[in-house]
Amino acid sequence: MKQVIVFGSLNMDLTIQCERMPQQGETVEGSNFLSNPGGKGGNQAVAAAKFGASTRMIACVGQDVFGKKLLEVLQGYRVDCAEVRQSETGQTGVAVITCHRGDNRIILSPGTNHELQAADVQAALKRVASPGDIFVTQYECEQNTVLASLELARELGMYTIFNPAPAKIIPEKYYPFIDLLIVNQVEAEYQTGILPQEEESCREAIQSMRRLGAGQVVITLGSRGSMFNIGEEMYSVPALRVEAVDTTAAGDTFIGVLAACLAENKDMEESVRCATRAAAITITRYGAQQSIPYREEV
Ligand code: RIB
Repeated sequence: MKQVIVFGSLNMDLTIQCERMPQQGETVEGSNFLSNPGGKGGNQAVAAAKFGASTRMIACVGQDVFGKKLLEVLQGYRVDCAEVRQSETGQTGVAVITCHRGDNRIILSPGTNHELQAADVQAALKRVASPGDIFVTQYECEQNTVLASLELARELGMYTIFNPAPAKIIPEKYYPFIDLLIVNQVEAEYQTGILPQEEESCREAIQSMRRLGAGQVVITLGSRGSMFNIGEEMYSVPALRVEAVDTTAAGDTFIGVLAACLAENKDMEESVRCATRAAAITITRYGAQQSIPYREEV
C-alpha cells in the first residue's frame, strides 16, 4: 500500500472566538478559548490518517509541553512519528487564531518548524520512502528546505503534492518537481498575478502554473468548490452548503484526504469529491485536528 508522507509544520493552535474583531489599540471580550493541535503539516497528516491512509510525518517540535502534546495527539491518530525530531533548544510552533463568525485570522510563531534542513529531510525520506508514495508539503517550514524536499522526493520516485501556504513565491526552477499543486484563490493570485474567480480566470491561472511545469493544478474556491485540470481538460466540483463554525484546517483536510485517495489509486475527480465532502465537515466544527472527520463520516 502506498504511504502518505507529510513534511511540514506542527503548531499548537490557541484559538478564541469573538463577536467582532478589535480595532487598533482596543480590547474586546472573547469566548471559548481552545488550545488544540494544528499546523498545516500536522492537519494534512491527520486528515490522511483519519481517512485511513498509512501516514508518516517528518517534522520538528520542541521538548516543551506543546511539543509533547502534539506528538501524543498525532500518534493517537495513528500518524507514524518516528521521523519527528524533538529539538533540545527550540520552542514548538504556536498559532494564535481569532475566530469571528466562522472565519479566522492567524498569527504564527514558527519556532522549531524552521529547524529542519534539506539534508535532514533527505535522510528521513531515504529511510522511509518508497517509489510511488505520496509526498505532501507546504510553506510553513523553512522555504529552502521545502523547495529542496520536492526535488528530493521526486528523485526517490514519489508523487509530489505542494500547497504553497502561507503564500510565498515558488521559484520557477521548482515547478517541474510538482506533480500536483493545490492553491486557494489568494495563493493562485500570488503565484500568477491572476485572481481566479469564474471559470475563465481559473482556467488562465491553472494554465499559467502548468506552463511553468506543474503537472496538475487544483484551485480551491471556498464556498464555490474547486477547479482543476486533467491533462488539457478543466473540471469543477461544487462545494457543499454547510453552516460555517470555524474554517480552520478546512483546506488542510481537503489536501490530506485528496492525498489519501490518490494513495488508494482513486481517480482525480473522485478524490476531489471526497476531499470536498471532508472539508465541508471540518468547517462545521471548532478547532483544527479535532475538527477533521474520519472516513466513515465522509
Ligand atoms: O491551516 C490551518 C493551520 O494554519 C492552523 O492549524 C494553524 O496552525 C496554521 O498553521
